[in-house]
Amino acid sequence: MTQTTSNSHLILTGDRPTGQLHLGHYVGSLRQRVTLQDRYPQYILIADLQGLTDNGSRPEKIAHNVLEVMADYLAVGIDPQRSTICLQSALPALAELTMLYMNIVTVSRVERNPTVKNEIQQKGFARSLPAGFLVYPISQAADITAFGADLVPVGDDQQPMIEQTNEIVHKMNSLLPEPVLRHCQALLSPVGRLPGVDGSAKMSKSLGNTLTLSATEEEIHKAVSAMYTDPQHLRISDPGKVEGNVVFTYLDAFHHDTEKVAAMKTHYQQGGLGDRQCKNELEECLQALLAPIRERRKTLIADKGMLLELLKAGSEKAHQKTQQTLVKVKRGLGLPVMF
Ligand code: TRP
Repeated sequence: MTQTTSNSHLILTGDRPTGQLHLGHYVGSLRQRVTLQDRYPQYILIADLQGLTDNGSRPEKIAHNVLEVMADYLAVGIDPQRSTICLQSALPALAELTMLYMNIVTVSRVERNPTVKNEIQQKGFARSLPAGFLVYPISQAADITAFGADLVPVGDDQQPMIEQTNEIVHKMNSLLPEPVLRHCQALLSPVGRLPGVDGSAKMSKSLGNTLTLSATEEEIHKAVSAMYTDPQHLRISDPGKVEGNVVFTYLDAFHHDTEKVAAMKTHYQQGGLGDRQCKNELEECLQALLAPIRERRKTLIADKGMLLELLKAGSEKAHQKTQQTLVKVKRGLGLPVMF
């Protein structure tokens, strides 16, 4: 077998620019990207085309959030010198590969994707399901393979995308005289999904239970004060429950002193530790985390020209990279490559 891709690892990850990023993104992926950028070459895709798949009639929302997300990335410490940040709609190879892959994936296969199935139901699309939305996993497979990424840091809801990508890799490679596309695997975050501040399973903008990376001191205070704890824990002296107690879930995710959190948990379970005190501890740690991010973000978003220049530079580099894959696939399929 001819070696078509290098053996060294390469990361692709990304976000739909549907709004500002929040604490859920921070624990689930942003924090990990900051660490990973020192270890592997890393591309980060602002997936505006994917964002449009369920916002077709609200393009201004997606367009507006491209630079908001860019500012979020830089504010948390993603370094454009070490990570290449690029824009999906600026990379024609991704759209072309999507067109090619669509012919080797059946409609019934995309309809079986559990994440897409769930989303279709949640969004209540029924007969008004946009065709682009149904096939977004195919476009995501194009993203991943165009970069030759083998490691994809994503949340567990994205596992089906990885699985589907690998099926496409297998099928497409079998049609080519020698394999071009690389198989990939998910890099799951060590911390599970962060619940919303109201205790619901997911932190999501549409549920109004998020804390964005630009949350003010007052917003953080309010969110922590209203946070769901153990409804049975009425008096300080009562034994309290830690499981399902959002304050402790957040302490686990954000507090650097795990021993202290463990001691607090024991104390809380025995009785004698009040909710207020736990919330104070959490608030202090969230204020300390978000204050510098918020300040950096404020400076960054005030210079949209600079953000756009950085995104352009990253997209140029990504364009070269993804174009190479497209050309290899086209050649392998016997399509004339004109330019
Ligand atoms: N589907 C991802 C999300 O909703 C965004 C995304 C698009 C992505 N293309 C990608 C993630 C490629 C990883 C790799 O967050």
